[in-house]
Amino acid sequence: MKSVIALSAFLSLTWAQDLCAQYSYYSANGYYFNNNAWGQSSGSGNQCTHVDLLLNPGVAWHSEWNWSGGNTQVKSFPYSGRELPTKKLVSNIGSIPTKAEWRYLGNNIRADIAYDLFTAADPNHDPSSGDYELMVWLGLKGDIRPIGSSTGNVNVGGRTWDLWIGYNGPMKVFSFVAPSEIAVFESDIKLFYNHVTNTQGFPASQQYLTTFQFGTEPFTGSSARFDVWYWYGNVN
Ligand SMILES: *[C@@H]1O[C@H](CO)[C@@H](O)[C@H](O)[C@H]1NC(C)=O
Repeated sequence: MKSVIALSAFLSLTWAQDLCAQYSYYSANGYYFNNNAWGQSSGSGNQCTHVDLLLNPGVAWHSEWNWSGGNTQVKSFPYSGRELPTKKLVSNIGSIPTKAEWRYLGNNIRADIAYDLFTAADPNHDPSSGDYELMVWLGLKGDIRPIGSSTGNVNVGGRTWDLWIGYNGPMKVFSFVAPSEIAVFESDIKLFYNHVTNTQGFPASQQYLTTFQFGTEPFTGSSARFDVWYWYGNVN
């Protein structure tokens, strides 16, 4: 038994990756990770993201950060993403099963915990944006809010969400916000696309899914630690 434990410890250490530069990146097993401190210049601070485990299927990782200043500005979006080698039209996607288990520690945390998916008419659109962004906020810390304004409560996948709609430049953003934190989430993100297709005129037959990511958007806080004990995602 001793040798089995030693071997698994060795494998975990082999896989662990420390991503501390602004856009440090790692990919393996059909998943990718990015420290992605894209908004760091709107304040000051530091952030490191650590890939902890590659599971079969799924991943585990965590991110540690301190950010101050620029209170209304997002500093980063450390995430795990699912590689999408073949881009599919949303109307041709059967399901987007996913599971997420997370925890936040730290002081005065102002951040969201969210899925982030981009779609575009051009399947080769720059993956850092799209024609449409769909977010599913499993939690929010502090006084932060999504882009746009609330359109009221909707029911998707057996849960109530507050649906916010707005624009980030030319990109239309749908944000489904959980009324209280969901620390263990298992659902089908395609149901959210069905909702915006049926009620908001989302053109599912003209939009390719280009990114499928889960992470956190820190605004400010200190000694923060965001643990993703488990994340799995797939596109069928
Ligand atoms: C955040 O600040 C705390 C307290 O100064 C420090 O111990 C920690 O290493 C910092 N974390 C990062 C990621 O810079």
